[in-house]
Amino acid sequence: MKMLNVVNGPQNVSAIVQGCMRMTDLDAQSAAKVIRTAYDEGINFYDHATCYGPDGLAETVFGNAFPLTGIKREDIILQSKCGICNFRGEFDWTKENILESADDILRRLKTDYLDVLLLHRPDVIFEPEEVAAAFDELEAAGKVRHFGMSNLVPLQIELLKKYVKQPLVFNQLQLSLDQAQLIDQPLYMNNMDTDFSINRDGNIMEYCRLKDITIQAWSPLQVGFFKGTFVDNPDFPELNRVLGELAEREGVSKAAIAIAWVLRHPAKMQAIIGTMNPEHVKDACAATNVKLSHHDWYALYLASGRYLP
Ligand SMILES: NC(=O)c1ccc[n+]([C@@H]2O[C@H](COP(=O)([O-])OP(=O)(O)OC[C@H]3O[C@@H](n4cnc5c(N)ncnc54)[C@H](OP(=O)(O)O)[C@@H]3O)[C@@H](O)[C@H]2O)c1
Repeated sequence: MKMLNVVNGPQNVSAIVQGCMRMTDLDAQSAAKVIRTAYDEGINFYDHATCYGPDGLAETVFGNAFPLTGIKREDIILQSKCGICNFRGEFDWTKENILESADDILRRLKTDYLDVLLLHRPDVIFEPEEVAAAFDELEAAGKVRHFGMSNLVPLQIELLKKYVKQPLVFNQLQLSLDQAQLIDQPLYMNNMDTDFSINRDGNIMEYCRLKDITIQAWSPLQVGFFKGTFVDNPDFPELNRVLGELAEREGVSKAAIAIAWVLRHPAKMQAIIGTMNPEHVKDACAATNVKLSHHDWYALYLASGRYLP
């Protein structure tokens, strides 16, 4: 497993993160198997959110399963996210909601500290002073060690940074060979012939690199928002052809090549995988042994339906 030292953040963390969004349907034994398989493959980082399942069900399943794994709490990084409150039709970054969410997360995960807390999607009427006050309280109480965000554009991060005194060390963003908007826009800039030139995120990739914010690429195998994977999907023949060729050359699965494509990018990102199938977890982890050349990276990008402008 490739390990990373996050600037101002946790050290020696795995480049592949086990996402727990899909853990809601598992019993404790099956969840323990996923957690343990990931750990045995070198993953020491697990991602949660308050909105994964009703009443944080994924966190509850994980909290019940973790004691069955034999893994020590201090040997893993537990991350969760708060702020998405779909059940009451709003995104909420008020101090009250952040503090209450953190306590709920700790109770469900059965731990007394979170390594990382991220603000999930932007509460568009957030008050940065409130976020700062909540983070100060959580840090002082020893409940949260590192902070960050997800799905935020550069100026929202700047606004937060004006008030929040803790380093904001992660930004969790969608990135896959299908959903490569983070990479497309600067390539096609100023080109009226393609929607790839539309700036949808304020150049968040370059901003994060400039500010030493580690990007966590969520859903590295997904098509669209949640339309299933492109791996072995007949709608993506050229992509699967190139994935297949490189998979054969490297002796790994196509999924591993797609994840290796994310990890090959010089931004030194983490990739958050979502499978609950232990065999697929092993497949994914093989990505960190793959050596993609500069040319391989472009070959995959072009096979995904992009072209050189
Ligand atoms: N910040 C955010 O807004 C946000 C949003 C969404 C997700 N996330 C995080 O990202 C994590 C990952 O999301 P995700 O589950 O959408 O990511 P993903 O890993 O890109 O997609 C998982 C899908 O890929 C399939 N898959 C995995 N390995 C495969 C293989 N070897 N061959 C064929 N198919 C394979 C899985 O099928 P099988 O189940 O059959 O393996 C599953 O359907 C979540 O758990 C969550 O932690 C964050």
